[in-house]
Amino acid sequence: MMKHESIETNAGLLIVLTLFVISIGGLVEIVPLFYINDTVEEVKTAEGHDAVRPYTPLEQAGRDIYIREGCYLCHSQMIRPFRDEALRYGHYSLAAESKYGHPFQWGSKRTGPDLARVGDKYSNDWHVQHLKAPRSVVPESIMPNYPWLLENDLKYSGIAENLKALKMTGVPYSLSQEEYDANVARFGAEVADTLDINNAEANLMAQAAKGNFDGNPNRLTEMDALVAYLQVLGTMVDFNQYDESYFVNFR
Ligand code: HEC
Repeated sequence: MMKHESIETNAGLLIVLTLFVISIGGLVEIVPLFYINDTVEEVKTAEGHDAVRPYTPLEQAGRDIYIREGCYLCHSQMIRPFRDEALRYGHYSLAAESKYGHPFQWGSKRTGPDLARVGDKYSNDWHVQHLKAPRSVVPESIMPNYPWLLENDLKYSGIAENLKALKMTGVPYSLSQEEYDANVARFGAEVADTLDINNAEANLMAQAAKGNFDGNPNRLTEMDALVAYLQVLGTMVDFNQYDESYFVNFR
Protein backbone atom coordinates (compact mmCIF):
# COMPACT_ATOMS: atom_id res chain seq x y z
CA MET A 1 0.00 0.00 0.00
CA MET A 2 1.38 3.41 -0.96
CA LYS A 3 1.67 5.78 1.99
CA HIS A 4 0.05 9.16 1.57
CA GLU A 5 3.18 10.75 2.91
CA SER A 6 5.27 9.34 0.05
CA ILE A 7 2.90 10.98 -2.45
CA GLU A 8 2.92 14.32 -0.69
CA THR A 9 6.70 14.45 -0.39
CA ASN A 10 7.30 13.50 -4.03
CA ALA A 11 6.31 16.42 -6.29
CA GLY A 12 6.73 14.43 -9.52
CA LEU A 13 4.48 11.61 -8.35
CA LEU A 14 1.95 14.09 -6.97
CA ILE A 15 1.74 15.84 -10.36
CA VAL A 16 1.26 12.53 -12.23
CA LEU A 17 -1.45 11.32 -9.85
CA THR A 18 -3.20 14.73 -9.87
CA LEU A 19 -3.29 14.71 -13.68
CA PHE A 20 -4.67 11.18 -13.60
CA VAL A 21 -7.46 12.12 -11.22
CA ILE A 22 -8.54 15.27 -13.07
CA SER A 23 -8.42 13.48 -16.43
CA ILE A 24 -11.18 11.17 -15.16
CA GLY A 25 -13.40 14.23 -14.77
CA GLY A 26 -12.50 15.34 -18.30
CA LEU A 27 -13.22 11.91 -19.80
CA VAL A 28 -16.59 11.68 -18.07
CA GLU A 29 -17.56 14.93 -19.82
CA ILE A 30 -16.00 14.26 -23.22
CA VAL A 31 -16.56 10.55 -23.93
CA PRO A 32 -20.40 10.67 -23.96
CA LEU A 33 -20.22 13.31 -26.72
CA PHE A 34 -18.90 10.64 -29.09
CA TYR A 35 -21.96 8.50 -28.49
CA ILE A 36 -24.60 11.20 -28.95
CA ASN A 37 -25.45 11.96 -32.56
CA ASP A 38 -26.26 15.55 -31.89
CA THR A 39 -26.18 17.75 -28.82
CA VAL A 40 -27.88 20.75 -30.41
CA GLU A 41 -31.62 20.21 -30.75
CA GLU A 42 -33.22 20.69 -34.14
CA VAL A 43 -36.18 23.00 -33.61
CA LYS A 44 -38.44 24.14 -36.43
CA THR A 45 -41.23 26.64 -36.89
CA ALA A 46 -44.68 25.50 -38.04
CA GLU A 47 -43.55 26.41 -41.59
CA GLY A 48 -40.54 24.09 -41.30
CA HIS A 49 -37.89 26.81 -40.97
CA ASP A 50 -35.18 26.92 -38.31
CA ALA A 51 -36.89 28.27 -35.20
CA VAL A 52 -33.73 29.74 -33.68
CA ARG A 53 -32.37 32.59 -35.78
CA PRO A 54 -29.46 34.97 -35.33
CA TYR A 55 -30.31 38.29 -33.66
CA THR A 56 -31.47 41.18 -35.84
CA PRO A 57 -29.08 44.16 -35.97
CA LEU A 58 -31.16 46.07 -33.39
CA GLU A 59 -31.32 43.08 -31.01
CA GLN A 60 -27.59 42.52 -31.45
CA ALA A 61 -26.90 46.17 -30.62
CA GLY A 62 -29.05 45.71 -27.51
CA ARG A 63 -27.13 42.59 -26.59
CA ASP A 64 -23.89 44.58 -26.73
CA ILE A 65 -25.39 47.15 -24.35
CA TYR A 66 -26.49 44.31 -22.04
CA ILE A 67 -22.87 43.17 -21.93
CA ARG A 68 -21.47 46.71 -21.62
CA GLU A 69 -23.69 47.45 -18.63
CA GLY A 70 -22.73 44.21 -16.92
CA CYS A 71 -26.28 42.91 -16.59
CA TYR A 72 -24.79 39.40 -16.58
CA LEU A 73 -23.20 40.13 -13.20
CA CYS A 74 -26.64 39.68 -11.65
CA HIS A 75 -28.62 37.80 -14.29
CA SER A 76 -28.10 34.34 -15.79
CA GLN A 77 -29.67 33.25 -19.05
CA MET A 78 -29.88 29.53 -18.62
CA ILE A 79 -32.83 27.69 -17.11
CA ARG A 80 -31.54 24.40 -15.78
CA PRO A 81 -33.52 21.16 -16.22
CA PHE A 82 -34.91 21.05 -12.67
CA ARG A 83 -38.56 21.15 -11.70
CA ASP A 84 -38.29 24.26 -9.54
CA GLU A 85 -36.56 26.18 -12.33
CA ALA A 86 -39.10 25.10 -14.94
CA LEU A 87 -41.98 26.11 -12.64
CA ARG A 88 -40.49 29.54 -12.11
CA TYR A 89 -38.97 30.37 -15.49
CA GLY A 90 -40.49 28.01 -18.06
CA HIS A 91 -39.02 25.24 -20.20
CA TYR A 92 -35.33 24.60 -19.51
CA SER A 93 -32.95 26.26 -21.95
CA LEU A 94 -32.04 24.31 -25.07
CA ALA A 95 -28.51 24.31 -26.47
CA ALA A 96 -30.05 25.45 -29.76
CA GLU A 97 -31.37 28.61 -28.13
CA SER A 98 -27.92 30.03 -27.47
CA LYS A 99 -26.10 28.76 -30.54
CA TYR A 100 -25.88 32.25 -32.06
CA GLY A 101 -24.95 34.04 -28.85
CA HIS A 102 -21.32 35.18 -28.83
CA PRO A 103 -20.18 35.47 -26.11
CA PHE A 104 -22.85 33.29 -24.51
CA GLN A 105 -24.68 34.75 -21.51
CA TRP A 106 -25.50 31.60 -19.54
CA GLY A 107 -23.85 32.82 -16.36
CA SER A 108 -24.30 31.39 -12.91
CA LYS A 109 -24.79 34.49 -10.77
CA ARG A 110 -28.41 35.13 -9.92
CA THR A 111 -28.72 38.21 -7.76
CA GLY A 112 -31.73 38.91 -9.99
CA PRO A 113 -33.91 36.33 -11.76
CA ASP A 114 -32.88 34.32 -14.82
CA LEU A 115 -33.71 36.22 -18.01
CA ALA A 116 -33.60 33.37 -20.57
CA ARG A 117 -37.39 33.62 -21.12
CA VAL A 118 -38.14 37.20 -20.13
CA GLY A 119 -39.24 38.06 -23.70
CA ASP A 120 -42.96 38.87 -23.99
CA LYS A 121 -43.35 38.62 -20.20
CA TYR A 122 -43.73 42.39 -19.74
CA SER A 123 -44.70 45.29 -21.98
CA ASN A 124 -42.07 47.57 -23.52
CA ASP A 125 -43.30 50.35 -21.22
CA TRP A 126 -42.69 48.18 -18.18
CA HIS A 127 -39.10 47.50 -19.25
CA VAL A 128 -38.41 51.18 -19.92
CA GLN A 129 -39.76 52.19 -16.52
CA HIS A 130 -38.00 49.29 -14.78
CA LEU A 131 -34.62 50.01 -16.37
CA LYS A 132 -34.93 53.74 -15.67
CA ALA A 133 -35.98 53.25 -12.05
CA PRO A 134 -36.47 49.63 -10.93
CA ARG A 135 -37.93 50.58 -7.56
CA SER A 136 -40.77 52.53 -9.18
CA VAL A 137 -42.25 49.20 -10.35
CA VAL A 138 -40.70 46.67 -7.92
CA PRO A 139 -40.33 48.53 -4.58
CA GLU A 140 -38.06 45.91 -2.98
CA SER A 141 -35.70 45.73 -5.98
CA ILE A 142 -31.94 46.16 -5.53
CA MET A 143 -31.30 46.53 -9.27
CA PRO A 144 -29.38 49.72 -10.20
CA ASN A 145 -31.04 52.56 -12.18
CA TYR A 146 -29.99 52.87 -15.81
CA PRO A 147 -31.44 56.30 -16.72
CA TRP A 148 -28.80 57.05 -19.36
CA LEU A 149 -30.19 54.36 -21.65
CA LEU A 150 -33.05 56.73 -22.50
CA GLU A 151 -30.73 59.71 -22.89
CA ASN A 152 -28.01 58.16 -25.06
CA ASP A 153 -28.58 58.02 -28.80
CA LEU A 154 -27.87 54.53 -30.09
CA LYS A 155 -24.53 54.45 -31.91
CA TYR A 156 -25.06 52.03 -34.75
CA SER A 157 -22.51 53.03 -37.39
CA GLY A 158 -20.42 49.95 -36.57
CA ILE A 159 -23.26 47.47 -36.79
CA ALA A 160 -22.32 45.99 -40.18
CA GLU A 161 -18.75 45.37 -39.00
CA ASN A 162 -20.13 43.85 -35.83
CA LEU A 163 -22.26 41.39 -37.81
CA LYS A 164 -19.30 40.60 -40.09
CA ALA A 165 -17.26 39.64 -37.03
CA LEU A 166 -20.07 37.39 -35.82
CA LYS A 167 -20.27 35.86 -39.29
CA MET A 168 -16.61 34.85 -38.96
CA THR A 169 -17.50 32.89 -35.83
CA GLY A 170 -20.15 30.98 -37.79
CA VAL A 171 -23.33 33.02 -37.28
CA PRO A 172 -25.16 32.88 -40.65
CA TYR A 173 -25.48 36.58 -41.50
CA SER A 174 -25.33 37.01 -45.28
CA LEU A 175 -23.12 39.14 -47.52
CA SER A 176 -23.40 37.49 -50.93
CA GLN A 177 -26.54 36.67 -52.89
CA GLU A 178 -25.72 32.99 -52.41
CA GLU A 179 -25.64 33.28 -48.64
CA TYR A 180 -28.84 35.29 -48.70
CA ASP A 181 -30.58 32.58 -50.77
CA ALA A 182 -29.38 29.91 -48.34
CA ASN A 183 -30.87 31.94 -45.49
CA VAL A 184 -34.20 32.23 -47.33
CA ALA A 185 -34.34 28.44 -47.54
CA ARG A 186 -33.31 28.03 -43.93
CA PHE A 187 -35.15 30.83 -42.12
CA GLY A 188 -37.76 32.10 -44.60
CA ALA A 189 -37.56 35.35 -46.60
CA GLU A 190 -38.74 37.64 -43.81
CA VAL A 191 -35.99 36.57 -41.42
CA ALA A 192 -33.37 36.29 -44.19
CA ASP A 193 -33.92 39.99 -44.96
CA THR A 194 -32.99 40.95 -41.38
CA LEU A 195 -29.77 38.91 -41.61
CA ASP A 196 -28.46 40.71 -44.69
CA ILE A 197 -25.35 42.64 -43.63
CA ASN A 198 -25.64 44.94 -46.65
CA ASN A 199 -28.86 46.37 -45.19
CA ALA A 200 -27.86 46.18 -41.53
CA GLU A 201 -28.31 49.89 -40.73
CA ALA A 202 -31.57 50.24 -42.62
CA ASN A 203 -32.93 47.09 -40.95
CA LEU A 204 -31.90 48.35 -37.55
CA MET A 205 -33.72 51.63 -38.02
CA ALA A 206 -36.79 49.99 -39.54
CA GLN A 207 -37.20 47.62 -36.59
CA ALA A 208 -36.74 50.45 -34.07
CA ALA A 209 -39.30 52.62 -35.89
CA LYS A 210 -41.81 49.79 -36.10
CA GLY A 211 -41.32 48.50 -32.53
CA ASN A 212 -40.97 51.90 -30.81
CA PHE A 213 -39.43 50.06 -27.88
CA ASP A 214 -38.52 53.10 -25.76
CA GLY A 215 -41.88 54.83 -26.17
CA ASN A 216 -40.37 57.82 -28.01
CA PRO A 217 -40.79 57.42 -31.79
CA ASN A 218 -38.69 60.51 -32.53
CA ARG A 219 -35.44 59.18 -31.14
CA LEU A 220 -33.36 56.04 -31.52
CA THR A 221 -31.88 55.43 -28.07
CA GLU A 222 -29.88 52.70 -26.39
CA MET A 223 -33.11 51.82 -24.60
CA ASP A 224 -34.73 50.90 -27.95
CA ALA A 225 -32.00 48.34 -28.62
CA LEU A 226 -31.84 46.88 -25.11
CA VAL A 227 -35.62 46.42 -24.84
CA ALA A 228 -35.74 44.87 -28.35
CA TYR A 229 -33.14 42.37 -27.13
CA LEU A 230 -34.92 41.59 -23.85
CA GLN A 231 -38.23 41.07 -25.66
CA VAL A 232 -36.85 38.35 -27.94
CA LEU A 233 -35.18 36.29 -25.20
CA GLY A 234 -36.62 32.78 -25.06
CA THR A 235 -39.39 33.47 -27.58
CA MET A 236 -38.02 31.76 -30.68
CA VAL A 237 -38.95 28.16 -29.91
CA ASP A 238 -42.63 27.23 -29.74
CA PHE A 239 -42.60 24.46 -27.14
CA ASN A 240 -46.23 23.53 -27.80
CA GLN A 241 -45.06 21.99 -31.05
CA TYR A 242 -42.86 19.44 -29.29
CA ASP A 243 -43.41 16.45 -27.11
CA GLU A 244 -41.06 16.55 -24.11
CA SER A 245 -39.56 13.15 -25.01
CA TYR A 246 -38.09 14.72 -28.15
CA PHE A 247 -35.68 16.89 -26.17
CA VAL A 248 -34.66 14.07 -23.85
CA ASN A 249 -32.75 12.47 -26.75
CA PHE A 250 -30.29 15.33 -26.70
CA ARG A 251 -29.44 15.22 -23.02
C1 HEC B 1 -27.02 44.43 -8.81
C2 HEC B 1 -27.67 43.35 -9.53
C3 HEC B 1 -28.42 43.68 -10.82
C4 HEC B 1 -27.92 44.20 -11.99
C5 HEC B 1 -26.50 44.69 -12.27
C6 HEC B 1 -29.00 44.17 -12.94
N1 HEC B 1 -30.11 43.64 -12.37
FE1 HEC B 1 -31.89 43.25 -13.31
N2 HEC B 1 -32.69 42.60 -11.55
C7 HEC B 1 -32.01 42.51 -10.36
C8 HEC B 1 -32.94 42.09 -9.32
C9 HEC B 1 -32.59 41.87 -7.85
C10 HEC B 1 -34.19 41.91 -9.94
C11 HEC B 1 -35.53 41.47 -9.28
C12 HEC B 1 -36.28 42.70 -8.79
C13 HEC B 1 -36.76 43.56 -9.94
O1 HEC B 1 -37.59 43.11 -10.74
O2 HEC B 1 -36.29 44.70 -10.07
C14 HEC B 1 -33.99 42.23 -11.35
C15 HEC B 1 -34.98 42.14 -12.31
C16 HEC B 1 -34.78 42.34 -13.67
C17 HEC B 1 -35.78 42.10 -14.69
C18 HEC B 1 -37.17 41.53 -14.47
C19 HEC B 1 -37.09 40.01 -14.50
C20 HEC B 1 -38.39 39.31 -14.19
O3 HEC B 1 -38.57 38.20 -14.70
O4 HEC B 1 -39.21 39.87 -13.47
C21 HEC B 1 -35.21 42.44 -15.88
C22 HEC B 1 -35.85 42.36 -17.26
C23 HEC B 1 -33.87 42.90 -15.60
N3 HEC B 1 -33.64 42.82 -14.25
C24 HEC B 1 -32.99 43.37 -16.55
C25 HEC B 1 -31.71 43.86 -16.27
C26 HEC B 1 -30.86 44.47 -17.26
C27 HEC B 1 -31.19 44.61 -18.73
C28 HEC B 1 -29.73 44.85 -16.60
C29 HEC B 1 -28.53 45.60 -17.17
C30 HEC B 1 -28.82 46.86 -17.82
C31 HEC B 1 -29.86 44.46 -15.21
N4 HEC B 1 -31.09 43.87 -15.05
C32 HEC B 1 -28.90 44.64 -14.25
C33 HEC B 1 -30.67 42.77 -10.14
C34 HEC B 1 -29.81 43.33 -11.07
